[in-house]
Amino acid sequence: MINVTKTFLPPQSEYGSILTRAWNSGWITNRGELVKELEERLKLRLGVSHVLAMTNGTLPIQIAIKALDLSGEIITTPFSYVATSSSIVWEDCTPIFVDIDPEHLTIDETKIEAAITSDTSAILATHVYGNPCHVEAIHTIAQKHELKVIYDAAHCFEVQFGGKSLFEYGDLSSCSFHATKLFHTGEGGALFTQSEELYNLLFSYHNFGHEGPEKIKHLGINAKMSELQAAMGLAVLPYMDEIISARKKIVETYQKGLGDLNLKFQKIRAGTRWNYSYFPVIFDSEAQLIKVQSALNVADIFPRRYFYPSLNTLPYVMPSSCPVAESIAERVTCLPLYHNLDIGDVQRIISIIKESL
Ligand SMILES: Cc1ncc(COP(=O)(O)O)c(C=O)c1O
Repeated sequence: MINVTKTFLPPQSEYGSILTRAWNSGWITNRGELVKELEERLKLRLGVSHVLAMTNGTLPIQIAIKALDLSGEIITTPFSYVATSSSIVWEDCTPIFVDIDPEHLTIDETKIEAAITSDTSAILATHVYGNPCHVEAIHTIAQKHELKVIYDAAHCFEVQFGGKSLFEYGDLSSCSFHATKLFHTGEGGALFTQSEELYNLLFSYHNFGHEGPEKIKHLGINAKMSELQAAMGLAVLPYMDEIISARKKIVETYQKGLGDLNLKFQKIRAGTRWNYSYFPVIFDSEAQLIKVQSALNVADIFPRRYFYPSLNTLPYVMPSSCPVAESIAERVTCLPLYHNLDIGDVQRIISIIKESL
């Protein structure tokens, strides 16, 4: 069976020897040496100012909203995973959906200003499949209207834009280290910010609001990454160059093999060093997508309709119209892409798509 993705598992002995350190210290959570080491290694590798490891990639978004003290309306994208919108609603704010740019698939920055009201407190946008939003335009709009900016950068491990980590844009960025992501800790995630003051606030929010062991400064939650998760991250990290270059080869094979068909691909924004995290293809119609998907399924190959459905159609948000996102969500699927996907299998996937079109 070929799934849309497959988790990279480091040699078990390497994971085991890192775990031995937790066994030796008897310390398996509450920011032991492994979490701290992972954060330091990420800081160096990614070139970021502050990183706070967390237990998944959803709580960071919720904590970001809480720590920035957001309320009222948050402008967001309908084309993302449900965690982006659900975090807004979970924090008692109202998502206001702005349609997407059909080429880059990120929020359409030219439509943001029209959606701003006196109730707007922030923009929460997703860098879709690791492709950056128009961060400069969003920065200018946010400055003009005094709005905070959060980026859901769940897919952006190792992505650079304008020569620096994409995590360094906005007030803060969240990333997911879920097992299906490019870099992973099983379950896991992180928040990134350039502000030390904000980092300190996020730190206490992710640890029950503690300021020292005996003082609770404000509301908080438990979003701490465990030592067991960090050990996985430390074991995966040395393989990242290898993983990314294997994925690059697969993406280039897809691009070459599918390039002459009537399919649309996401346009990667100029100035980006991308990470080859997903390979979305956009069909002419949903019927065509379903036809191709069925042919692949018969061959035991399972792409994933990701992102689907368009988030402005969720049952718990105010109905609104986002024709571009709705249309793309109906026609997009992500093809299998992972470090050890055989190039022969990639060619087979290409042939099945060609035949069924
Ligand atoms: C865009 C986006 N945001 C947030 C998340 C949530 O991350 P996690 O599953 O680590 O909580 C995901 C996970 O798939 C995602 O794709």
